[in-house]
Amino acid sequence: MSKSVGVFGATSRIGQELLPMLFESGYNVHAMVRKANGLSPLLFHYPNQLTTYLGDCSKDSNTIERIVSTSDIQVIVLGAYSNEPEDQIICQTTQLVVEAMKKLGKRRIILISSAGVGNNEDQEKLSYRFVFKKFVLNNCYADLRNAENFMLANSQFLDYTIAQLPLLSNGPLTKDYIVNLSNRMPSVPLRILSRKNVAHLLLTIIEESQDGKYKNTYVSATEPKFEGKIPYEDGLNMLKPQIPKLMSQLAWKTTVWIGLPSLCLMGWKLMRK
Ligand SMILES: NC(=O)c1ccc[n+]([C@@H]2O[C@H](COP(=O)([O-])OP(=O)(O)OC[C@H]3O[C@@H](n4cnc5c(N)ncnc54)[C@H](OP(=O)(O)O)[C@@H]3O)[C@@H](O)[C@H]2O)c1
Repeated sequence: MSKSVGVFGATSRIGQELLPMLFESGYNVHAMVRKANGLSPLLFHYPNQLTTYLGDCSKDSNTIERIVSTSDIQVIVLGAYSNEPEDQIICQTTQLVVEAMKKLGKRRIILISSAGVGNNEDQEKLSYRFVFKKFVLNNCYADLRNAENFMLANSQFLDYTIAQLPLLSNGPLTKDYIVNLSNRMPSVPLRILSRKNVAHLLLTIIEESQDGKYKNTYVSATEPKFEGKIPYEDGLNMLKPQIPKLMSQLAWKTTVWIGLPSLCLMGWKLMRK
């Protein structure tokens, strides 16, 4: 069993759930962080199992190589905070990690991605697919798609797992979730997975890395049923700073598609009189 894991995005909410599970299962973690105190509480509790490396994982290839050289498995669990087109952190990090792995002859990598990135869009609600995903999260999805494509393009050098996740909640660890070894989401009315269950799924994938079940495949997962408030906060946080830009785009499109044809029609009617 591999006992050393490189984690990119360890300070994420999934990362914060995953790391203690890894430590309790006896793993050492090599984590790249942007802030020196990013994992202080965990360092305090697990000083012998956690090594942190300061740096920006979307740029700093030397630090990434150091982590890859000491880890058997790499886990990319980053999340963008904005929908700006220049924020391609997941794709950039994936490229640097994969290049380091190729150079050092390491194969095992797990990428956290999202439902709806691949060819499962038909499973999504139309409002989400054509409004939210097209205008509010379009660059985030492009980032994940590019990361997945880069990984697939290098698949002959890797043993990869791409975990496509549904909407994430901060709910409890139930260990009760349905897994599909494909990028087709399990068919339930509302697909939601708690970050604690995501961490449990990741630990399972890491633990079973040896038997090959999760190698070179997509993994989709959801809890079988969800009761409570739907966790829309992340999406709304992405939406807020974009509202002025979206409003001006809407005004511009309304002018072009409705205003101009109406003016032409009025002019034509006047000329006929
Ligand atoms: N939210 C959802 O419902 C949902 C649904 C499906 C899939 N996912 C996927 O799940 C993943 C992780 O989710 P999460 O909620 O655990 O993430 P999160 O709590 O939002 O954490 C984001 C992580 O990314 C890092 N990060 C952000 N911008 C960065 C940058 N420019 N350079 C380097 N690092 C950067 C952060 O580091 P710092 O701590 O240094 O800021 C942090 O570790 C994401 O890939 C997301 O696409 C989410």
